[in-house]
Amino acid sequence: MKKKLLFIGPPGAGKGTQAKLFCTKYGLEHLSTGDLLRDEVSSGSVLGRKASEVMNKGELVSDELVLSIVESRLVNIKQGWLLDGFPRNVNQANSLQNLLKKIDQPLEAVISIQISDNYLIKRLLARGREDDNEEVIANRLQIYRDKTSPLVDLYRKQGILVGIDGNADIDVVFSCIEKALG
Ligand code: AP5
Repeated sequence: MKKKLLFIGPPGAGKGTQAKLFCTKYGLEHLSTGDLLRDEVSSGSVLGRKASEVMNKGELVSDELVLSIVESRLVNIKQGWLLDGFPRNVNQANSLQNLLKKIDQPLEAVISIQISDNYLIKRLLARGREDDNEEVIANRLQIYRDKTSPLVDLYRKQGILVGIDGNADIDVVFSCIEKALG
């Protein structure tokens, strides 16, 4: 089973849900920049307060902050890792590539979870996180299309991309991911 992974997809595609299941079953470290940023927000730190304003609008937090959060964790992981929600733009992807080169841990596979807009909007409205309202979801989706989706092509060209249909039930999606990475 591959052990250096990245899950990419629009908001509500199921990246976090599938990443948690996968990491629990295969003993990988789950690095979700969204979760790590929400931890920072909960801590009440100055950085957290700044991040919270940006996240509640559905915008991207600064590359510097996100990179420092990821780098400090990634360098200490030995047993394998799964990146969820990072990278989210070309600059973050380039920085990740440099970091992985430095620590000699090349990315082995990228799972791109695809889902229809109607379905993701229903899921997110049902979840009701602070950034799950119609206006902010529309902004998150637009930012995914403009800034994050070009990375799908980038990883396809590198020959490490696998597309997964995220519209199905959670266990069905999980089986497809396992098959793709086995
Ligand atoms: P982040 O937390 O990464 O949010 P997101 O990408 O919008 O992703 P979501 O958590 O909404 O969706 P998901 O694909 O993980 O789906 P999930 O499994 O949760 O980022 C939040 C914010 O932080 C960003 O907007 C930005 O401000 C900032 N940020 C984060 N990373 C950043 C970065 N690298 N750079 C800059 N800023 C960054 O599922 C969603 C719901 O659907 C759940 O309720 C779940 O139970 C349900 N569900 C999942 N799968 C299924 C299924 N198959 N069937 C039915 N229901 C399902």
